[in-house]
Formats: sequence, structure tokens, C-alpha cells
Amino acid sequence: MKVLVTGGTGFTGSRVVPLLFQNGFEVRCLTRPSSDRAPLSTLTVEWVTGDLSDAESLTSAMHGVDALVNIASLGFGHADTILGSMKEAGVKRGIFVSTTAIFTQLNAGSKSIRLAAEEAIHTSGLDYTILRPTMIYGSNRDRNMWRLIRLLRITPAMPIFGDGESLQQPIFVDDVAQAVLLALKTNDTIGRSYNIAGKEPLTYNQVIDTVAAALGKRVWKLHLPYMPIVRLLQFTERIGLRLPIKAEQVLRLNEDKSFSYEEAKRDFGYRPRSFEEGIRSEISKLP
Ligand SMILES: NC(=O)c1ccc[n+]([C@@H]2O[C@H](COP(=O)([O-])OP(=O)(O)OC[C@H]3O[C@@H](n4cnc5c(N)ncnc54)[C@H](OP(=O)(O)O)[C@@H]3O)[C@@H](O)[C@H]2O)c1
Repeated sequence: MKVLVTGGTGFTGSRVVPLLFQNGFEVRCLTRPSSDRAPLSTLTVEWVTGDLSDAESLTSAMHGVDALVNIASLGFGHADTILGSMKEAGVKRGIFVSTTAIFTQLNAGSKSIRLAAEEAIHTSGLDYTILRPTMIYGSNRDRNMWRLIRLLRITPAMPIFGDGESLQQPIFVDDVAQAVLLALKTNDTIGRSYNIAGKEPLTYNQVIDTVAAALGKRVWKLHLPYMPIVRLLQFTERIGLRLPIKAEQVLRLNEDKSFSYEEAKRDFGYRPRSFEEGIRSEISKLP
């Protein structure tokens, strides 16, 4: 079976593509002229150059494949072009990586684009499966836990905006890759959308404690009231001052983000690792 992968050079994609190879798939990757193909350089990928915003390049990349694995974000408004190209090229099967961020109560910028993308996929008439991961971590390409590990490694104290009791359920990147593979191989997933998450929800305090324990240390958690910080950040954003953290990130940290993956378990045998297991394997790779 031959698949076209978009986003194959990214953090998640670079773990999905090798797994597809290991499982006997032929893989064609759509990349932009600027894409760094190095993460996949040891594999016999068929490379095609194009862009999700360019219907012609996308349709031509799809000719001759049996399925699309769309890992590139649905948050940039390309869904209609992707679905149109699939129809044009006669590709009926598609796995689409979305995000549980569509459930946020916050007025996040890309939420409406992502919801519209999912709606377009639902009504496309194609054999789709949507996978919605929570926050993805694992490898030094992750922009979340890898940073936290490096920070907690050197600091005796960690400021936390809020009481740290909101729930998180981060998913290990290889579990996302496994979910993509299983969904692709399981016809029962056609026409369905699945939330996929780490094994269990944890409070942010537990996230900090788990990482610190895996580093073999204790970190003092310094809880700060978060609304004054949010207001301050919103003010700095209004006057155009750039800080490393945004008001929306602080608000999101204080929102519960736990999601059941029971349907994924039932339909395609999804079984994620625990956060402790994922973090310990990351820490074992530290130089
Ligand atoms: N990271 C998370 O915590 C997280 C959580 C939940 C859901 N997700 C979802 O998971 C998916 C993968 O996320 P990620 O963090 O692994 O992404 P990433 O590292 O940012 O990689 C994005 C990939 O998409 C490609 N891409 C972006 N725009 C493109 C365009 N216009 N045309 C062609 N290719 C384009 C990039 O190509 P280049 O190499 O050219 O840049 C890259 O390969 C996304 O759909 C994201 O929304 C991520």
C-alpha cells in the first residue's frame, strides 16, 4: 500500500514515516522547497515538492497513492484544498491529525479554522479517520516536555501560574505514530474521529513532580496567582512587547485537558504508555 504523507519532516511526522516503512508501506512525502529532509534521510522515501496551499502540486502528489496521511496542521486553512485534491486524484482514504485543542473554552485564534476543517472532513464523503492528540512530547524536537526537563534539571524551584491542579494528559510522540498506523490499518475507523491521549490524566503539579523524580531530585513548586499575570501579559501584547510566554498559554495551562481514549482503545487497540514511562525514557537519553 502506498501512502502520501504531509508533515513527514515535522516532529510527529518524522516518527510516523519510519513506522509506516517498518510495517511495509511505501511512503511518498510532500515537502516544501524549504523543508529539512534530514530526519528521514536514511529511508527510501519518494519525495515530491509542493505546498498545502497549492492545489496543483497537492493533486499531482496524490496521483497513484492509496491513502493520505495528513500530519501537517489543519489550523492554517488548507483543509478544503486537501480534500479537493483527494477527490481530484481519486484518493478515498485519509487519516487526518487534528488536535484536542478544538475543545478549548478559550477564544484561541485557530480554533474556528480547525473546527471548520474537521467539519469539511466529516462532510467530504471520503473514507476519513480523524485523530486528535493532546499535547505531544518526546524527543528533543518537542517544544513542551523537553524544555521542561532541561529547566527542571537545573532549577531548585519552579514558578507555576495558578494552583497547578488543572489536568493534563500529554501523549508520547511514538504513541501518536502507533495510533496513525493502527487507524490506517483498521477499516472500522473509517468515518470516525478519536481523541488520543497519554495513559492517565495528571495535574500540572504531578507533571512537575514526575519529571523531577525521574531526574532524581525534588523541585520546589512556587504557585503564583495567574490572573494578574494574564492581565500583565495581555497588556504587554497590546503594546507590542514580545515575551517568551503568552497570556493564552497561561490561561490554557489552567484549563483541564484530560480526554478519554476509550473509543480508540475499543476500535483499534490504542494503548498509550504512562507519562512516567515516557519521561523516564526521555531522561535516559539526556547527555
Ligand atoms: N505538537 C503538539 O503538541 C501537537 C498537539 C496536538 C496536535 N498536534 C497536531 O499534530 C500535527 C503535527 O504537529 P507537529 O508539532 O509534529 O508539527 P511540526 O513539527 O510543526 O511539523 C509540521 C509539518 O507540517 C509541514 N507543513 C506545514 N505547513 C505546510 C504547508 N503549507 N505545506 C506542506 N507542508 C507543510 C512542515 O513542513 P516543513 O518541514 O517545510 O516546515 C512540517 O513537516 C499537527 O497537525 C498538529 O496540529 C500537535
